[in-house]
Amino acid sequence: MTEKVNVLVVGEGGREFAIASQLQSSKHVKQVYCAPGNAGMSAVGVQAVAIAETDFAGLIRFAKEHQIAWTFVGPEDCLVDGIVDDFKAAGLKVFGPDARAAQLEGSKDYALNFMNNYHVPTARHSSYRDQTAAINEVDKFGFPVVIKENGLAGGKGVVIAKDRRTAVQTIKDMFENGRARLVLEECLVGPEYSMFVLVSNGHYRILPLAQDHKRAYDGDKGPNTGGMGAYSPLPQLSAVDYQRMVDEVVKPTIDGLVAGEYHYHGILYIGLILTADGPKVIEYNVRLGDPETQVILPRLKTDLFELVTAAINDQPLPEIVETAAACFGVVVAADGYPQQPTHGQKLGHLPAEEDIEIAYANVTGELTDLRGAGGRLLMVLSKDPSLKVAHDRVYRYLADINLPGCFYRDDIGAKAGLTD
Ligand code: AMP
Ligand code: GLY
Repeated sequence: MTEKVNVLVVGEGGREFAIASQLQSSKHVKQVYCAPGNAGMSAVGVQAVAIAETDFAGLIRFAKEHQIAWTFVGPEDCLVDGIVDDFKAAGLKVFGPDARAAQLEGSKDYALNFMNNYHVPTARHSSYRDQTAAINEVDKFGFPVVIKENGLAGGKGVVIAKDRRTAVQTIKDMFENGRARLVLEECLVGPEYSMFVLVSNGHYRILPLAQDHKRAYDGDKGPNTGGMGAYSPLPQLSAVDYQRMVDEVVKPTIDGLVAGEYHYHGILYIGLILTADGPKVIEYNVRLGDPETQVILPRLKTDLFELVTAAINDQPLPEIVETAAACFGVVVAADGYPQQPTHGQKLGHLPAEEDIEIAYANVTGELTDLRGAGGRLLMVLSKDPSLKVAHDRVYRYLADINLPGCFYRDDIGAKAGLTD
């Protein structure tokens, strides 16, 4: 067997916990480092490194000093800011798109131009630099209308305005709050899906499908969050619809990346709505999703290290083989999330239980005495051939433990018929 190697994951959330944990379990990996990582990562043998994800020079120095075979970048802001360009310039191997390709997430305008150029179906849209033009044309999209800020907004940059009055007010507010540009879009109707595609310069593999739950409270009520729970696979999606998503959205997108000479090596996350006229893209992201990653990766039989190594080196990509078992997870967030999350709640030592995994995110302290550090704190996960059994196990575990100052949704999986 070839020698085992070290790898570095950049980021600190639940998504990076899942990536790092999966890589640490590979037979090819000696040590996974995660910068800056979080306090829960030692539970799965991953070593957190106190270097900020914005300190590219520090990360490059660390990678050189610790014989890192390659680096996997989790969060979008580093990608948009050019971490991949800097790593490559330093002669290091890295998995993620460069700054040019990352504009597919960093700028709505850029993404829409890409879709127009390469015939990827999307909503009817226009982009505006001043409020008068936007207000004058808002009627042509009908109501509700979707209003999007141009730049990265952490999931909070989209407003669906139900009538003209709300739309006009939102447009004014966005420009008056310093936004230089916004996009108006027709509101698409239909179920929303995400596809995570591992891309290697024109070649690709589609990862297992997962469903996120973006709103904070039960019944899809409350403010938008990063995501409050997820499950994989999706029993409700037919094979015919899946194939349409591949043929009509994934293929033209990959062809566009090749035609535009992007040399894309990384994850492309395609958000789409399955309308009566077929699938239409509502956004591209240039990274994995959080919390979708936490339920997708445990379902891979394919070794993630082998997959990423092949992708980075332009070698043939291994097939993706999924376990028959489903994976289900519920996010535990700090009270007040997402508006004003509280900090410092005492989580203590969460009991280990067979068939339950914890993916830690915003936690500090020792493993035996963890505290919340704001936002999404952790995710409770279970895997089982029956999605319903996994669901029931996670909720029973949550009911049995005491998590002061935290909340979670009770209805994750309702769309798959999982709630009683
Ligand atoms: P984003 O911040 O781009 O993820 O968008 C947030 C949410 O807005 C998406 O998850 C969709 O639910 C919704 N959304 C975005 N664009 C559209 C659209 N054109 N039609 C309907 N819903 C949309
Ligand atoms: N869960 C949604 C995202 O990662 O953007």
